[in-house]
Amino acid sequence: MIAKLLLDKKREGHALGSAEIREFIEGFTSGEIPDYQMSAMAMAICCKGMNERETADLTEAMKNSGRSLEWEFPTADKHSTGGVGDKLSLIIQPLVAACGVAVPSLTGRGLGITGGTADKLETIPGYNASLSLDDFQQVVKDVGVSMTVQTSEITPADKKLYALRDVTGTVASIPLITASILSKKLAEGAGTLVFDVKCGSGAFMKTREDAVALANSLVNGAKAAGRKAAALVTSMDAPLGYEVGNVNEVAESLEWLGRGSEEVRVKSEELRSEDSSSDPIELCIEFAALMVSLTKEIPLDEARQMCREKLADGSALAKFEQMVAAQGGDLERFRKVAAKPVFKFKIQAMRSGYVTAVDAEKVGRVALALGAGRLEAKDRIDPL
Ligand code: URA
Repeated sequence: MIAKLLLDKKREGHALGSAEIREFIEGFTSGEIPDYQMSAMAMAICCKGMNERETADLTEAMKNSGRSLEWEFPTADKHSTGGVGDKLSLIIQPLVAACGVAVPSLTGRGLGITGGTADKLETIPGYNASLSLDDFQQVVKDVGVSMTVQTSEITPADKKLYALRDVTGTVASIPLITASILSKKLAEGAGTLVFDVKCGSGAFMKTREDAVALANSLVNGAKAAGRKAAALVTSMDAPLGYEVGNVNEVAESLEWLGRGSEEVRVKSEELRSEDSSSDPIELCIEFAALMVSLTKEIPLDEARQMCREKLADGSALAKFEQMVAAQGGDLERFRKVAAKPVFKFKIQAMRSGYVTAVDAEKVGRVALALGAGRLEAKDRIDPL
């Protein structure tokens, strides 16, 4: 294969063949194709796009660049494109496990204003969010849920390509984003994939049109790879829930997991804003029910009812506690830390009125400046 011929072909807007895409990615992974040719290909894809078949081939080629896991029992996972205050995974994954569907979740770290589930979980003293793949598989078997960062054995081609995209202005491309997200999720092996595509000021996708296009691309790609899949496009104009920052978000999640469903309903109605899509518990129930309904092949209403029951009887919280213990975390110590904010600052309104909007992007930037996130992958988080 002559890489330059394929670059010419894509630059002229033609579709690449399945074998051409496979060989290009294999060549890039092995180092035979240098970074400058891969960067040029990424830019050509950004400008000329890829059809659905090419996107599926790119996804498959990237998945096959590393190890893939298989499970002997029903599994599901949820992926969020990321937002401010987005702690939904901390609630959804144990809730789904409590419903009898195992959740092997290889999760990410935060970048820019969007937080990462692994960073949040690492605020629990002792929690190991960097398990080996063998330990990850063991925790999923023993507990039914594990959340840990992706290891370098999973989709090495994506790791290399993402680093190039980050510095060559080629992140914003639906085929490239789809292949990047989906290759990792397919390698993880979950049978059902549900996507939360965030849309708004605090999200990657600023317009509804782009968010819907990405949602369709992810769902079509997952189905083409033989998985059950669905997506919801949800608002990220305001932060999700009532807390932002790593420790605060784990504490808020524990609070939601610890309430019975009736109390959850009452609390969420008390606090509900005009835009109910920012209400975390209702969104959690919706996502968890989708995952359970698709995996168990039961009606959505029945799955919603099951989720409410598993919140009410404490089994979702118990799953979270078991997962934390299995990964070395100490929730008692966490609860003591979380109860003592280092600084408190009260903002007094100048006159009475209603808060009608909270800008997710601005809150995300403040959290980032306070050390809750990182500007570059090598930056360190300040958990408190
Ligand atoms: N998240 C990913 O994993 N990859 C992308 O390309 C964008 C967001």
